[in-house]
Amino acid sequence: MKILIVGGNGRVGSECKDVLGQEHELITPSKKKLDIASWDGVIECLQEVSPDVVLNCVGLTNMNVCETDNFAVRKTNIEGPRNLAQCSARFECVFVHISCAHVFDGQKMMPQPYFEDDTANPLSAYGKSKVESEVAVRGNAPNYIIIRSAWVYGFKGSGFLKSILQKALEKNPKPIKVMSDQYGSPTWNHRLALQIKELIEKKAKGTYHVTSEGYCSRLEYAKYALDKLNIKATLEPCSIKDLKGPMPPANCLLENRLAKKQGLSVMTNWKKDLDSFLDKFGSALIKKAKMRKI
Ligand SMILES: NC(=O)c1ccc[n+]([C@@H]2O[C@H](COP(=O)([O-])OP(=O)(O)OC[C@H]3O[C@@H](n4cnc5c(N)ncnc54)[C@H](OP(=O)(O)O)[C@@H]3O)[C@@H](O)[C@H]2O)c1
Repeated sequence: MKILIVGGNGRVGSECKDVLGQEHELITPSKKKLDIASWDGVIECLQEVSPDVVLNCVGLTNMNVCETDNFAVRKTNIEGPRNLAQCSARFECVFVHISCAHVFDGQKMMPQPYFEDDTANPLSAYGKSKVESEVAVRGNAPNYIIIRSAWVYGFKGSGFLKSILQKALEKNPKPIKVMSDQYGSPTWNHRLALQIKELIEKKAKGTYHVTSEGYCSRLEYAKYALDKLNIKATLEPCSIKDLKGPMPPANCLLENRLAKKQGLSVMTNWKKDLDSFLDKFGSALIKKAKMRKI
């Protein structure tokens, strides 16, 4: 298949490039070459490339920026996906779009997970933009796959895991405050990319939840990773209520119900994948954190 990947330099997109590139022909324009907020740019690109699949890994994911920069969040998270969805429909390609747990309010009692058909009720500007992006995709691309994930980590880019590591490896480390009442399923970008590949190749259609199996709190996540890497640190439990910025969902559990029902799930337990990730990248991450390069 010929697959156009946009956002291919990000945390999700970079791994999709590696995984999908092993068996498919990829076209991966940078943001400089293709700004998805430009209708003309998108239509010209699709006309020129004529892909079978368009995979959108673009996103403005900084919740604080989303809260304050309405223009940027609309362009990147809503108008961009709408352009891609409309052009995919015009050129009869499959459109794959990445969404997230922030479309939900996270108020379900733990450990009840969210299902694909649960009602969206976002708490933040970021979450609202992701809901609008999904509406734009469903309304414009007849042949779509929406993939909702959460708590994605990988070697590239910043993120929760790396920030914990960096704080723990400071010369004079202070106690690290970590939320003990926000829950989710840490999801390796490599596993997510494998699932995206499977859904594309098996010609899946509709909205899918894609996160690791099992769950933990942010505090358990941090403790598990630091223990695995033999890094001593003092973790201080705090509450999601202590957050000063926009509110993420407290319960980010997404059940991969549709993929499992269709026999398409390749997801595995979060600890198993985190072990594999840290076995592979742990030393390099520690080195980077010590050099404060993360
Ligand atoms: N990270 C997570 O934990 C997580 C969880 C669930 C869902 N998601 C979703 O996954 C998607 C990707 O997230 P991510 O974490 O991989 O984000 P990321 O690391 O910030 O990467 C986003 C990519 O989008 C590119 N980009 C931004 N604006 C663009 C535009 N107008 N046109 C073309 N490219 C543009 C960026 O290019 P530059 O680098 O040049 O700016 C970057 O390569 C998002 O839709 C997000 O909502 C992420």
